[in-house]
Formats: sequence, C-alpha cells, structure tokens
Amino acid sequence: MEVKTKQPLLSDHVDMRLVAVDADEAISDRNAIVQLDPDHPGFRDREYRKRRNQIAQLAMNFQPGDQIPDAPYTAEEHQVWRTIWKALGPAHQRHACAEYLSSLRRLSFDSDRIPQLREVNEKVQAISGFRLEPVAGLVQPRVFLENLANGVFLCTQYIRHHSTPLYTPEPDVVHEIVGHGVTLASERLAELNRLFGEAVKRATAEDALDRLSRVYWFTIEFGALREGESVKAYGTGLLSSAGEMEEMGDAELRPLDIEAASHLEYDPTHFQPVLFCAQSFEAMYQTLREYLIRW
Ligand SMILES: [Fe+2]
Repeated sequence: MEVKTKQPLLSDHVDMRLVAVDADEAISDRNAIVQLDPDHPGFRDREYRKRRNQIAQLAMNFQPGDQIPDAPYTAEEHQVWRTIWKALGPAHQRHACAEYLSSLRRLSFDSDRIPQLREVNEKVQAISGFRLEPVAGLVQPRVFLENLANGVFLCTQYIRHHSTPLYTPEPDVVHEIVGHGVTLASERLAELNRLFGEAVKRATAEDALDRLSRVYWFTIEFGALREGESVKAYGTGLLSSAGEMEEMGDAELRPLDIEAASHLEYDPTHFQPVLFCAQSFEAMYQTLREYLIRW
C-alpha cells in the first residue's frame, strides 16, 4: 500500500535533516547530523556538509540564556551574502512595505558580510524584546509558534550553498535575518508574532494549530498589503527572496480574509500563487491582532 506523507505545515521552520551523501558515510561519520537531499546544491560538497554539521552542532549545544556562538562562515559564504544583497536592495525599494523599510534602516546591516545572530539580537532586542535563537533538530510547529509567546524566534544559522546564491531549497540565515529579524524589529510586527504564540498556547481544538499555522503562513510569511496604488510585501518569505518579490504581480491577490486563509492549503516549495492583500498596514495589523486575541 502506498503511504503518502502530508507536507508538514510551516515546513520552512521544520528544518535540519542529516547531512550525508549516503548511509555508509553517515555511519562512518558519527557527527553527521544534517542530511541533504540528492538534488540539494550542497549534496556533493563535502566541505559544505561539514560546515552545516558544525553549525547544527553549535545549535545543539546552545542553551537558552547562553551567548549565541558565532557561526564559522567562509569568505565564499560572505560573497553569497553580498550577491543576495545586491539583488535584494532594488527589490526592497520596489516591493517592500514602508514598515519593513524603516526596520531595515534601524538594523543597518553590513552588506559585505553575514551578520551573526548575536549582533542582530543586540539591535532587535532593544527595539521589541525579541531574540533569535539557533535551533537544530526537528522543530515542531507548536514548539516554534509557542516560543514566539516568549519573544523567542527559533532559527537556523547556516547559509545556502554558494553555487546557487539566489536559490535555496530550505530557509537559511538570509531568510531568518532579512525576513524575520527585520520584521521583528518592528514593534507592531513583533507584537503580532507574540500574539501568534499566545494564541497557539491557548488553542486546544484539534485543528487549531493547523489553522493558526496557515494564518501565520499567509500573513507573517507571505502577507501583502496596499500602499496607495501599490501592492507591497510585509511577509518574510517574500522579503527575503528577490525572485519571489519580482513575481508578486503574477500572484492572485485576494482581500485579506483570515478565516479563509486559515483553511487554505499551501505548497512551500513553489512561489506562492495566492497572496492575501490587506487594504493597508494598519488594516492588517488591526484585523490580525483582533483575530489572535479572540483565540
Ligand atoms: Fe519563515
């Protein structure tokens, strides 16, 4: 009998598989803790897999309250950051909402090198109280979302493979920092993240977690809103991908309807064909806030 596994919700934060090319290698290297699919750009790069393992190990050793250890990025990886930044800069100017652009200015990243989570946290915590914490191993959606209630965003620290600077099959530190780190430096977006966590903690109905996960996806991850005549992004998945921002115009825009979003399935492996678009940042903030408080 064919067994189909359902795509887990919020799979972009349910990362970290074992990195090994084959089973023999996994056995011979007992420290191999991350596994890449054969079609992953880093699959054949032993050095890359080794670094992914090192970074996963840092997260596994990390205890909340400790100083976050710096990830050992290479010169090649800092070059990936520069390449991404060159593509993102103009895309942000065209497609990012004003709230995001103002947070981005507050964080003032160095476009030459990947910032360490420790450095990002110093700025984000001073603004909203949120902090990014490294995580390895399987993060269940409930764990990920409930941590938001405590102002903790569980995230990855590795960067995509240098052979594909503008593509990653899984969320990396670019998505975490450029997407979530920046939006968590907005008081109002940080508040909404926190309210998601609190709602999930109260949500006990069988399908409640799935519904809240979908709402998170269609708002915090892939939300759009109107600024005058323009459609702008406030979702982290859009804001961390120049390619997806440029294709936003091809998506079907639906008026923000949170109840509808809570029932809509999505596929995280493609550009999103449907985006929910709020009338304004203020309308999005009020609607989502009221919805989350009611849970
Ligand atoms: Fe995300």
